Amino acid sequence: MIIAIDGPAASGKGTLAKKLAAHYRLRHLDTGLLYRAVAKSLLDAGHAPADEARAVAAAGAIDPAGFDENALKRYEVGEAASVVSAMPGVRAALFNFQQEFAAVPPGAVLDGRDIGTVICPNAEVKIFVTASPEIRAGRRASELRGRGESVDEADVLTDILRRDERDRSRSAAPLKQAPDAHLLDTTSLNIEAAFQAAVRLVESR
Ligand code: DC
Repeated sequence: MIIAIDGPAASGKGTLAKKLAAHYRLRHLDTGLLYRAVAKSLLDAGHAPADEARAVAAAGAIDPAGFDENALKRYEVGEAASVVSAMPGVRAALFNFQQEFAAVPPGAVLDGRDIGTVICPNAEVKIFVTASPEIRAGRRASELRGRGESVDEADVLTDILRRDERDRSRSAAPLKQAPDAHLLDTTSLNIEAAFQAAVRLVESR
């Protein structure tokens, strides 16, 4: 079984994907980490995230087995990831890894922006997770504070709105709900309630 979870930044899709994977004993891939790893390798080498040739080369050389999730989840890495993820060459370089990950039996839970539309269009279950921008900004700010970063929630909201716009308007695999995806709005749901709602969607399939 393949479960595809898509949605905008800080919608709760990562937490949900992790919990669903544990519940159904499936492997989990947070595909945002792939784009973040490309971005981080450029930042670490002192290159601009907009340097397409270097970004495509970095995408071909990433090693998911050695990811440092804490470092990849940093705020500035997320910003740079939003830039490199708009590049068709970067997306093409990361495509096979994601499809191959999903194809290994007994399946997997993948979360990202284009899982239900591009990476796993035949996924058995597709969920598009959303929440109001204000709620998402609050969640992202607490997550970053939990990682030791000091952030201003109003700035986080501005960045989330800008990133949503960039992810939705890019021509390469834009963020959008697949026609056969279930919409799950977590604005007024806590983690457990969102998880229970997602399980009901999976079971209904
Ligand atoms: O979900 P996240 O914040 O870790 O994602 C970081 C960036 O990567 C975000 O701007 C969108 C992009 N991304 C993408 O384009 N496609 C995916 N499948 C996952 C993430």
